[in-house]
This record gives sequence, C-alpha cells and structure tokens, in this order.
Amino acid sequence: MTVITEAVILRPHAEDLYASELAYLAEQDDRQRPPGWRLSPQAVVTYLLGDGDQVTPKYVGPRRLMEVAVATLATDRALLLIGVPGTAKTWVSEHLAAAVSGDSTLLVQGTAGTPEEAMRYGWNYAQLLAHGPSEAAVVPSPVMRAMQRGSVARIEELTRIPSDVQDTLLTILSEKTMPIPELGTEVQATKGFTVIATANDRDRGVNELSSALRRRFNTVVLPTPGTVEEEVEIVSRRVESLGRSLEIPQAPQSADEIRRVVTVFRELREGVTADGRTKVKSPSGTLSTAEAISVVTAGLALAAHFGDGELRPADVAAGMRGAIVRDPAADGQVWREYLETVVRERDGWEGFYAAARESE
Ligand SMILES: Nc1ncnc2c1ncn2[C@@H]1O[C@H](COP(=O)(O)OP(=O)(O)O)[C@@H](O)[C@H]1O
Ligand SMILES: [Mg+2]
Repeated sequence: MTVITEAVILRPHAEDLYASELAYLAEQDDRQRPPGWRLSPQAVVTYLLGDGDQVTPKYVGPRRLMEVAVATLATDRALLLIGVPGTAKTWVSEHLAAAVSGDSTLLVQGTAGTPEEAMRYGWNYAQLLAHGPSEAAVVPSPVMRAMQRGSVARIEELTRIPSDVQDTLLTILSEKTMPIPELGTEVQATKGFTVIATANDRDRGVNELSSALRRRFNTVVLPTPGTVEEEVEIVSRRVESLGRSLEIPQAPQSADEIRRVVTVFRELREGVTADGRTKVKSPSGTLSTAEAISVVTAGLALAAHFGDGELRPADVAAGMRGAIVRDPAADGQVWREYLETVVRERDGWEGFYAAARESE
C-alpha cells in the first residue's frame, strides 16, 4: 500500500502566508481605498510595519519610507526601490504587491538576458502557425497581465536589463497602454495597475536607467539597518519564521549568538569596531542582513541536528567564515586579522574565538 501525503508548499506567496492578517486588515479598514486596491494606503503601511498586536511586522525600518513608497503607488508614478544587496528591496516589493493587489506573483526577473517578450508579450507558435496572429495566440507577460487585472507588476533588478528592453516600459508607464502592432490593437491598463521595480546600488552603471525612464519612477532608497538592535531584531524575526517553516527545532537561547553574528558583520561592513576604537579591513563580498540570516539559520540546523539543541559559538563560526571569505587569499587574511586583533581580546568571546580558529 502506498501512503500519499499531501505536498506542502515550500515557500508560500506573501498573500497566502499572511492571508489572515490581510483579511483582518481589510475588515477593519474604513479608510478610502484607491481604485483597484485591496486596502487603504494606511492599512498597507500597517501590514508592512505591524500593529503590535494582530499584524506582525514585515519591514523593520523607518515608517516614513514605507509611507512614501505606498503613497507613490497611489499616484500614476511607478516605484523604484534601490539599495545595497540585502536591504529588503525584494521583500518589501513582494509584501507591497500582496497588500495592494492581493497578488505578488506578477514578476519579471531582470537579467542581462531578459528579452522584450518578458516585458510585453510573446506568441504561442502552434496557434500562430495554425491560425495566424490572433488574440488567442498572444502569450501575455506578467506586466501585460498586471495591466489587464489592475494589479502591481514587479520587476526585479531593473538595471540589469538591457537598455532597449527597459525602454519598453516607457509607453507602458506614461501612456498606460501596451500596443500590439501585429493585431492592430492595444491592451489598456485598468485601475490599480502600477509597477514596483528594484535595483541594486552596486549595479550602478551596468545599465543605468535612461533619464526618460527614471522620470516615471519615484525612488525610495532602503538603508542598511541603522543600529545593532534593529539588525538583531530583523535577524531574530526572520530566523524564527524561517525556522518555523523549515521545521527546524527552535533553540531557546539564541539571542547572544545572533547579536554576535550581527556585530561581526556590522564591524566588517563598516570597517571599524562598534566602540569606534579599532579600524578593521572589510572583505570583498557584501555582508548584508540577508547573509546574517543565512548564517544563523544554518547554525540552528547544526545545533538542532548535530548539537545539544542550543545555538553555540561553534554552530555559527563555520558559517560565518564561509559568508565572509569569498576570495580565499584576500578575505582569508582579513578574517584572520579580525580574529586576532578584535575577537581574541574581547570579553566573553573566548568560545567563539576558539571555534573560529578551529574552523580555519
Ligand atoms: N529592514 C528589514 N526589515 C525586514 N527584513 C529585512 C530587512 N532587511 C533585510 N531583511 C531580510 O533580509 C532578507 C533579504 O532581503 P532581500 O529583499 O532579498 O534583499 P534585496 O532584494 O535588497 O537584496 C529578507 O529575508 C528580509 O526578511
Ligand atoms: Mg533582491
């Protein structure tokens, strides 16, 4: 006899994972909703930042930034989120789309090879050959579907997309229409349609946005977390919910190790110790909050499956070295120097120092 167990989605979309929060907000929400929106702008911001009670915070950072982002979406301009890697651009864009449209899936992943069809439409060649160009043969892009449905279209890593493909957005954003010359028709956007794009600061110059396109966007810059406390909170929350969904048993006392990982990442990122006294060299790769989340999550899996269930310095040390040392020669040197000049001297870090030396 075979037992068939129901498959469980590994990573549900935000609108599914937080369906009950979104429903709760919609029910409470008595403010005006822009045409095509599921929630009022105020309720969208509450969804993102939490209400301290029923609604969990998704974004940790300045409320004003989220207000500006949401207000932009209520105008006829599109939203561009920029920042260094790991500042939650993708994360915020997914949650904004979920809260505004109830659908975060209309997504174009920008790469150097993103074709025009990914922004506009393609053709179903079997249909095209059998019946010639017709509406039935058009394969809509996520952007076209968002226009038809009056939803948010998400474009990831906009500046990696070749400039001529980026420019297909011009007519879409200014005229709110997508012509289909082959059929002599067009798709007109319905109310609620807008675009949220993300771009990395580090990519600047790869395919810089044309000034015509930039004018169609309001830009919101997402900062790296301002304080250790803020970053510890982000990592703790995310690690907890990731751990829950991966069903990694929680370690009850992981706060100290999380703070340690965050401290090391911040010091290496900023090139100076937290007390401002000692300069340190920065490694070549980015050490973002996202990497800190990975290191802690991997550590928790080690602790749960191979340790005593408590997150120990040895559980994070190996992962930390992996995240920091991308280029074995140069970064290895940076890491060793940091261990010897900073970690070795620090009170209460003896266990971590030993574990880090061991994983060298
Ligand atoms: N300020 C923040 N608030 C909440 N989560 C954050 C914040 N900064 C980073 N994160 C977390 O970091 C992870 C990576 O973010 P991501 O959106 O992929 O970064 P980006 O697209 O900017 O490179 C996400 O899981 C997110 O939860
Ligand atoms: Mg991203």
